Parts: sequence; structure tokens; C-alpha cells
Amino acid sequence: MKAVQYKDYGNPDVLKRVDDALIPVCGPHEIRIKVVCAGINPFDVKKRSGMMSKGHPLDAPIIPSTEASGIVDALGSQVTDTKIGDAVFGFAFGGAACEYALLSQWSHKPDNVSFETAGSVLVSAHAALRALNELDLKQGNTLFVHGGSGGVGQATIQMAIAKGLSVIADGSEKNQALIQSLGATPIRYGEHLVRDVYAHAPNGIDGIVDTSGTQLEDLLTIAKTPLKIRTLANYDGPSFGVKIPSYPKDSKQLLDEITGYLADGRLKVKVTGKFTLDQAQEAHRFVQTQHTSGRSVFIINENL
Ligand SMILES: NC(=O)c1ccc[n+]([C@@H]2O[C@H](COP(=O)([O-])OP(=O)(O)OC[C@H]3O[C@@H](n4cnc5c(N)ncnc54)[C@H](OP(=O)(O)O)[C@@H]3O)[C@@H](O)[C@H]2O)c1
Repeated sequence: MKAVQYKDYGNPDVLKRVDDALIPVCGPHEIRIKVVCAGINPFDVKKRSGMMSKGHPLDAPIIPSTEASGIVDALGSQVTDTKIGDAVFGFAFGGAACEYALLSQWSHKPDNVSFETAGSVLVSAHAALRALNELDLKQGNTLFVHGGSGGVGQATIQMAIAKGLSVIADGSEKNQALIQSLGATPIRYGEHLVRDVYAHAPNGIDGIVDTSGTQLEDLLTIAKTPLKIRTLANYDGPSFGVKIPSYPKDSKQLLDEITGYLADGRLKVKVTGKFTLDQAQEAHRFVQTQHTSGRSVFIINENL
């Protein structure tokens, strides 16, 4: 099958389009889809760069992207809640930038949600929901989202508002209107962050979701305790008492909640990067700018 692969870690040049990748075979609890769209996330960029490899070289080619939408074309022997031909989206930890991918966790795609949205929402929305759940805020509480204009930030804002929170979020100057359109109070990140958060929340902040990985000292000043912060982007966080949200064994409840928000329109995805498999290098260069203002996808089969 057609796929993007890399055989060595490195810059985007290591990404190659191939025609002879093996079509994967379902394990008992997996489904296989004919991929329509595959999401491209900062995680894919970090993994490809080798920063997560602990110095170990690759022993087999990697297909990037870990989420996809598409049409079910094969079922594992233990799968009972899905049938061939269903439109689904989910996690594809074995790689999704290819024609056929295995999903280990999935949800049915609501009819009113596009394949582009479904194929690029999960990595970011799942992380956002894990962070929000761990903060366990109550209706009327105030949340600050650091990096509110990115994929995770936009998902965090929208789901926080769906839960009845009041949200302040930062982004660059060009993304102030975007943040406001999602229902949050926009401010800029950088030098005056503490002052600007307090200008909008004189009584303090009840929780912070950090998607940017910068300005940890300021976040600690704003929150007054690391316990009120969850970071998705700062690996130094734990040494300051700031937790990275953990990954639950069973995600079904999270997937169902995200699917519900998509179906009723409370969670919308802005897809700002659309690429073919031939444009994989360009796609990763775009995502690694960290200023895409939305999600990015490979469009692999638009005829389905
Ligand atoms: N642990 C997990 O499961 C998990 C899951 C998903 C994502 N993540 C991580 O979460 C992070 C965000 O992911 P994403 O998909 O939302 O990325 P993204 O779409 O690229 O968003 C990046 C965000 O950071 C902001 N930003 C860029 N430079 C900044 C700076 N110098 N100071 C402050 N903010 C800055 C951007 O704002 P502007 O564009 O307005 O400048 C934007 O809001 C990544 O590190 C990703 O790996 C972790």
C-alpha cells in the first residue's frame, strides 16, 4: 500500500513516500480502516526527530501519524460493536499516514462531522479532556489556557466552555480574534502574562492547562500552587510538581464525550493544513512551526 515512512530519525527529509508498505492485519480487538484522513500532530514531529528515542536507532520503518478517520474494511475476531463499511475515527498507534490503518480505540463518526475533522480531532481533544478531568473544576470556575490558539488549546477552550467554565486564553497577536470566537477572553503570551491574567481574573484562577510548554515560572505565580496546573508540553513540569495528565487504560468514556461534543457542535476543529502523502516533508515542516492555528491532516482518499 501507499504510505509515508521513515527509516532513520532526523529532520523532515527522512520522510519518504513508498508504494510497497505491507497492509496491516487486525489483532483480535482492532479494526482496520481504509484511511480517508490522518491527523498530523506535534507528537509525530517530536517522534520523527528522535527526541523520544533515548538514543536508540530504529530497527524497523515507522509510519507517522497516530490518528485517522475512514471506512472499516476488516474486523478483529473479538470486535462486536462495529461492522464493515462503518465510518469511524480513532487512534492508530501503528501509523496512519497510509492507505490502511489499524485502530485500537475508535468511535463512530457522526454524520454531520467531516472526515477531515474526525481524522484530526482526537489526539488534541483527548489530551485536553484528560487535563480538564484531572483539574476537576466546577461550573463557574475560571480556567486559564496557556497556548489557547493551538489545536489542544482550541479543544480545551471549547470543552471547558461546554462544562460551564469561564476561560481566559493566550495566543499571539494574530490569534486574538480566533480565541475570542471560541468564547474565551483573549490575552497575549509573553512578558505581561501574570499582569494580564489577573486583570481579567482579580480573584485568581482555579486551574491552568498548559499546551505551550513555556513560561512555567509565570504559570506557577498565577496558579499559586502546581496542583492547579496540568501541562501537555513541558517535560520539566513534574520536577516543579506540575503533572502531565495520565493516559487512562480505557478511553471509551473520553471518546464518547468527544464524539458527543462534535455531534452537537460544541467542539469544532479548524483544519489549517491539508497535505497529500507526497507532501509529507512539507506537512511536518508546517506542523513544527507551532503556529498553525489549527489542525493538519493528510488527505489520503477523498473519494470515500
Ligand atoms: N501528552 C499528550 O498526550 C499530548 C497530546 C497532544 C499534544 N501534546 C503536546 O501539546 C503541545 C501543543 O500541541 P498542539 O497540537 O496544540 O500544538 P500547536 O497547534 O502547534 O499549538 C501551539 C501553541 O503554542 C503557542 N505558542 C507557540 N510559541 C509560543 C511561545 N513562544 N510562547 C507561548 N506560546 C507559544 C501557539 O500560539 P500562536 O500560534 O498563537 O503563536 C499555540 O497556541 C505540543 O507540545 C504537543 O506535543 C501532548
